[in-house]
Amino acid sequence: MIQKIKLSEKIYWIGVNDRHTHLFENFWPLPYGVSYNSYLIDDEKVALIDTVEVSFMSEYLQKIKSILGDRTIDYLVVNHMEPDHSGSIQALLQAYPDLKIIGNCKTAPMLEGFYKVVKNVVTISEGDSVSLGEHMLNFYMIPMVHWPESMVTYESSKNILFSNDAFGSFGTLDGGVFDNEINFSFYEDEMRRYYANIVGKYGTQVQKALEKLGTLEIKTIAPSHGPIWRDHISKIIALYDQWSKYEGEEGVVIIYGTLYGHTAQMADIIARSIAEEGIKNIRTYDASKTHSSYLLNDIWKYKGVIIGSSSYNGGIFTPVSSFLKQLLGIMPKNKLLAIFGSMSWGGGAVRALEPFAQDIKWNVVTPAVEVKHAANDDDQEALISLGKAMAKALKENV
Ligand SMILES: [Fe+2]
Ligand SMILES: [Fe+2]
Repeated sequence: MIQKIKLSEKIYWIGVNDRHTHLFENFWPLPYGVSYNSYLIDDEKVALIDTVEVSFMSEYLQKIKSILGDRTIDYLVVNHMEPDHSGSIQALLQAYPDLKIIGNCKTAPMLEGFYKVVKNVVTISEGDSVSLGEHMLNFYMIPMVHWPESMVTYESSKNILFSNDAFGSFGTLDGGVFDNEINFSFYEDEMRRYYANIVGKYGTQVQKALEKLGTLEIKTIAPSHGPIWRDHISKIIALYDQWSKYEGEEGVVIIYGTLYGHTAQMADIIARSIAEEGIKNIRTYDASKTHSSYLLNDIWKYKGVIIGSSSYNGGIFTPVSSFLKQLLGIMPKNKLLAIFGSMSWGGGAVRALEPFAQDIKWNVVTPAVEVKHAANDDDQEALISLGKAMAKALKENV
């Protein structure tokens, strides 16, 4: 027997939990896994909302058949073409060859390009509706949240927003599927990490989407990853508003690269001086050890960022430089920055960090501290002053 999980009388969650993939998009760690949520609406016409990652096809088909038996599916709504949601389309078409695929004008060329699917594609536009009987599907475009064809589907009889990646979270659904059944703070953290890693670059587009969706009466948000939101809708919309405006809490993330520990000692001195000023949220990371996924999560969470590096090949130590390159690709806004570094025997790290400080366009707390060999008493005073200046700036800005 397959347990049936219902959002309402005729709407089912038929998603799957992925606990075996190590890296989402082959890059972002999944220590707690991820769910791929798909939904089935069993009305006069039967509709699926999105599919699941293709390696789960067998489990997915079993779930569909446990509800429909031998009946067929009329529509598949493709809110998003990233393969974690579209990867099962070809296999689904083999099982249900007459299925009509609903997407927008940017979906159709991707269906053909990725999967050679051209038949039975129904192209809808902003505000169009499809009736299933008592349920009505309404479509709204949310371009670049986070792909160009991204859209959401609003079921207007039950006020359910099928939001795809928007409001999605890493973390499998370990029993709890709805937000009144889960530990909210766990998923808030994994939701922010998902947002920062996957959607974070597109804050302006998220703001536009929030404005558009703000006109709808929403009682349930059913995303394509993580919990289904009913009790915390205003909270998660407020979080998305905050994250897409790059508004960080009072706190600082210190990220350093070190070969033999001297730059790490500098980071600890700065961190201690910030704590002495009463700032409680301080996270310090070695960029050689901690994946950038977690660094980005904390950068989204906190207002302050301090970057330190040992000199290496006359510039920034590789783990830090590769992270900074990634950060410049994403370009989060509205942060406070301080920089420091060790010259070791040659120098170059702080000199190379200075152009980054300009390019990222954050407010810079000065003066930067550069230390030769290991920090002497004067250097330690300079590091303490830098930490105090950051704490002061945090208190004035948050
Ligand atoms: Fe996606
Ligand atoms: Fe996704």
